[in-house]
Amino acid sequence: MSDTAPASKFTPRVFSGIQPSGGLTLGNYLGAIKRFVSMQDEDFETVYCMVDLHAITVWQDPADLRHNTRELAAGFIASGISPDKSILINQSQVPEHAQLGWIFNCVARMGWMGRMTQFKDKAGKNTEKVSLGLFGYPALMAADILVYHATHVPVGEDQKQHLELTRDIAAKFNHDYGVDFFPITEPVIEGAATRVMSLRDGSKKMSKSDPSDASRINMTDDADTIAKKIRKAKTDPDALPSEAAGLENRPEARNLVNIYAALNEQTVDQVLADVGGQQFGTFKPQLAELAVAKLAPISSEMARLMSDPAEIDRILAKGALQAREITAPILKKTYDIVGMVS
Ligand code: TYM
Repeated sequence: MSDTAPASKFTPRVFSGIQPSGGLTLGNYLGAIKRFVSMQDEDFETVYCMVDLHAITVWQDPADLRHNTRELAAGFIASGISPDKSILINQSQVPEHAQLGWIFNCVARMGWMGRMTQFKDKAGKNTEKVSLGLFGYPALMAADILVYHATHVPVGEDQKQHLELTRDIAAKFNHDYGVDFFPITEPVIEGAATRVMSLRDGSKKMSKSDPSDASRINMTDDADTIAKKIRKAKTDPDALPSEAAGLENRPEARNLVNIYAALNEQTVDQVLADVGGQQFGTFKPQLAELAVAKLAPISSEMARLMSDPAEIDRILAKGALQAREITAPILKKTYDIVGMVS
């Protein structure tokens, strides 16, 4: 017997997606996109997606959806995702996502879906009135990933439960049909900013759907707006500690330090070794300067790319063709396994 472990039968492949349901936020950038960019240069094939079919699980104005999808593509590219290194797609242009999504609707159980905290948060008390698509959302998400046989999925902390469900769906499919066909995908949730919080309330996630624009930094904000939002961010009256342990029970302080660390590619302890003892009046201008230096070039590049939407559409059309070379055979094989006559 060989003493080396057998190579996995699955190609190391990354898939991740973002909803074009509004503008990109600093949470999306630090929690997800920065990692998408770095994984391009590791030993993976990388596929990144605007998930427009997910966005319409809640109402989207059609013109806004079209604009937001292109702007999200511009945001991906401006942040460093290269259409030459990664496959960049819009979900609805690769029909195998929705086709495998249907199969997974028949694999996933109602009880599993009912336990999803994101569904409960989004539906609130209104479960009778929300769309069926919102309830089934995680089955389509599992299909997004598994229709590529993706092995790794970089996401922020809030997607962890959905990725556990993706693993459950893959395992149940494999078990029910007696195959070893879908990989059990690894979530990649790493870094100082896997959960960026609101600038107005350190107990709430920074989100594009928060009614207060001051709660978030948008990737389209200009330098003055970014600096103003950081200056006004909620804090507490104490000085910054010199070690991470001192941030416990100080959610707003911890959030700003995490943002600094992620933007500057440092650990929280490295940041605190430099800024420990400072008051926020001193720290905030440094954070604002860093944020503007890192984000303003991205927002101006996004604006430049958005001046030529036809070029964005060409990139997405090419991405869809490349994607379907992977997804069509996987879907065909899935249909075979399930017993569909082809
Ligand atoms: P979405 O569009 O809400 O967010 C996109 C990515 O950004 C991360 N994120 C954050 N990270 C840190 N702090 C925050 N405040 C923050 N806000 C958002 C999210 O964790 C996510 O990684 N269901 C997904 C989209 C999706 C998907 C997929 C993701 C559909 N299919 C397949 C991965 C694989 C979502 O709603 O993300």
